[in-house]
Amino acid sequence: MSTYDLIVIGAGPGGYVCAIRAAQLGLKVACVEGRETLGGTCLNVGCIPSKALLHASHMLHETHENFAKMGLMNAHVDVDWAKMQSYKTETVGGNTKGIEFLFKKNKIDWIKGWAEIEAAGRVKVGDTVYETKNIVIASGSEPSTLKGVEVDNAAGTVVDSTGALALPKIPKSMVVIGAGVIGLELGSVYARLGAEVTVVEFLDAITPGMDGEVQKQFQKLLTKQGMKFVMGAAVSGTTVENGAAKVTYKLRKDDSEHVIEAETVLVATGRRPYVSGLGLDKLGVALTDRGFVAVDDHWQTSVPGVYAIGDAVPGPMLAHKAEDEGMAVAEVVAGKHGHVNYSVIPGVIYTSPEVASVGLTEEAAKESGRKVKTGKFPFMGNARAKALFQADGFVKMIVDAETDRVLGCHIIGPNAGEMIHEVCVAMEFGASAQDIALTCHAHPTCSEAVREAALACGGGAIHA
Ligand code: FAD
Ligand code: NAI
Repeated sequence: MSTYDLIVIGAGPGGYVCAIRAAQLGLKVACVEGRETLGGTCLNVGCIPSKALLHASHMLHETHENFAKMGLMNAHVDVDWAKMQSYKTETVGGNTKGIEFLFKKNKIDWIKGWAEIEAAGRVKVGDTVYETKNIVIASGSEPSTLKGVEVDNAAGTVVDSTGALALPKIPKSMVVIGAGVIGLELGSVYARLGAEVTVVEFLDAITPGMDGEVQKQFQKLLTKQGMKFVMGAAVSGTTVENGAAKVTYKLRKDDSEHVIEAETVLVATGRRPYVSGLGLDKLGVALTDRGFVAVDDHWQTSVPGVYAIGDAVPGPMLAHKAEDEGMAVAEVVAGKHGHVNYSVIPGVIYTSPEVASVGLTEEAAKESGRKVKTGKFPFMGNARAKALFQADGFVKMIVDAETDRVLGCHIIGPNAGEMIHEVCVAMEFGASAQDIALTCHAHPTCSEAVREAALACGGGAIHA
């Protein structure tokens, strides 16, 4: 029987980062992972394969839409779906192997198999029980299913995100249930690859929780790219006949029932924590009413010595949030101070244009009772974005009207996911919009639009 300082359950971005940081802090660490490869949902069937397909399909879109405009004539590109899948698989493989290398480098034992927590300090994998001073649950999440909808990823007709990343062929038509992050990212992959994509969404706006102006502009741009939207529609079920699927939904405004057909249906209606098999019931680990592992400010569960992080606990289901919690809980377990600033966690949607946000939306800032000011700058006034044919979006900054402190920022535009970080850093330092406005930004960059939005919060943008 081996004795560890820490056993981490799950090697996703929460778990593997926690294991590495704990090892760096001098602890004897093991990480249990049931999958064949390390990296969790994110590397295997989430962030990385989806970004590979988004990149490849974006390149295709560029050849169709913009090459001729730049004098790059007669670019005819055929899609070899099998090869695109290999590129995706190789990208994933390179990254999962990278985590294996990091485990070896940091002397972390990878215990292969599915873990059950017998008691605080005892983790069982197969027939072996491992003793440990601390346990971190980083078991992640899984797609949540909808009543009346049966997902069959192998058949490729009604699929969840995992199935959609590996369809046997590019469908001619696709219905996406849910206009959240997964639905829009993967929906736009297939739209760019030539599928007729219709998104059916329960709410009246896409990407719930986002800034209202961004939601509207985003939907407008995706519509311009050929995606169709049925809004205010509650999907009640799917059926499959002769390899094609029918989706039944009711419009909330008049309760009328409709049926839409497609070769493939992607169910993207959210994810739920994955904690089955861990034995949490027997152990007495408290869950929230939505099935997440309940934790205190130090990620400690109701059972001393057992911690939990990432998608398995409440909060945004994002890889970088899981990573930050992984680092912080490792510090706590090592007797140091761990901290995550939940008010500065960026969210990015990797469509084209990208959509990125951090902090409060205008709506949330107003609801909090603050006096707010906003500064908005359209990419139409940004030379670099215009050269990239991506001038349709904008940067919107939300600041406290009394102190000028930056409360949030929302960007829809080229490389928004990279640009958002200067605002994250500014917010971490408690900066004002004027601090950003007075910072010299290189020309010509898309980031100049962030500075212009900051200027718009005060004296006024220059190029608007
Ligand atoms: P996970 O990554 O889910 O890892 C948990 C691991 O624990 C799994 O490998 C699982 O096998 C293992 N496990 C579970 N139970 C046990 C057990 N009992 N024993 C042993 N092992 C166990 N987030 C972003 O920030 N950016 C993105 O671009 C992004 N894109 C996404 C695209 C898709 C299609 C999907 C589905 C998700 C995406 N996400 C993205 C979300 C991101 O993948 C998750 O937030 C992140 O993976 C959560 O990390 P985690 O470590 O908590 O859990
Ligand atoms: P989501 O919660 O973002 O969106 C689900 C959507 O489905 C909502 O708009 C909801 O109103 C709708 N819906 C629910 N039931 C419905 C019904 N019966 N009929 C019609 N519409 C219905 O969930 P999604 O897109 O599945 O993503 C899950 C998680 O994965 C997210 O929390 C996200 O954080 C993470 N993720 C992050 C990515 C990123 O950071 N780029 C990329 C992909 C996923």
